[in-house]
Amino acid sequence: MAEKAHFTTEQELATLLQADFPPPAERRCAWVLTGSGHFLRESLDIALALPAVDLFLSRAAEEILPMYGWPLGQLRQALGANGRLLRETNYSSAPVGLLYRGRYHTVVLAPATSNTVAKCVVGLSDTLATNMVAQAGKCRIPCIVFACDTEPVVVTDAPGGRVVLYPRRIDLENSERLRGFEATTVVANPAELAAALRARIREWEGACSASSS
Ligand SMILES: Cc1cc2nc3c(=O)[nH]c(=O)nc-3n(C[C@H](O)[C@H](O)[C@H](O)COP(=O)(O)O)c2cc1C
Repeated sequence: MAEKAHFTTEQELATLLQADFPPPAERRCAWVLTGSGHFLRESLDIALALPAVDLFLSRAAEEILPMYGWPLGQLRQALGANGRLLRETNYSSAPVGLLYRGRYHTVVLAPATSNTVAKCVVGLSDTLATNMVAQAGKCRIPCIVFACDTEPVVVTDAPGGRVVLYPRRIDLENSERLRGFEATTVVANPAELAAALRARIREWEGACSASSS
């Protein structure tokens, strides 16, 4: 398990949860990483190109990131001063409180495991990742999901090399059902993810300048 030192501490989180709402123009993306290796590196490249982003890691994400060339210390460094690394430490998913404090304009779940997508689809919120999606919905914060099971055949990066996988009908159906959720965009590849994110940021910036003029 990763060194605790790389993560936002409970005390820092408590301070943030009591802070005033930031001005709308200072809101950022909350990016949730799950234990999916499929397009993990490509998703991280897009996340880390943002000027400010907070990464929320499922327990499985913490485990697999080093297998894909991202030890937690390196990820912390790549985020720099403009990003936070939040981990799943407790049952109640305390970091989701940041959604209630106006810190984020968008929640991105990328890449999303079959497991987390399945839980989201039936409305479960018993992990940090599923809670972020559920609470984003309840706060009417738009969500972009890069589901790893959207095609009948996928070629994916495993730690030992590339493998071909055949998502099951249930996995494909779950990704499809998520498309019907309120304020949720499901994407199927890194190009679609980047495009959906660009569109959402444009929309948010437009709303910010309209409200300030
Ligand atoms: C190296 C590695 C790669 C994995 N890649 C995937 C993947 O691409 N898609 C997936 O659904 N699960 C993948 N898994 C399995 C998930 O990590 C596992 O189902 C985990 O329980 C998901 O937890 P989470 O949804 O809370 O992150 C992978 C596991 C390992 C060890």
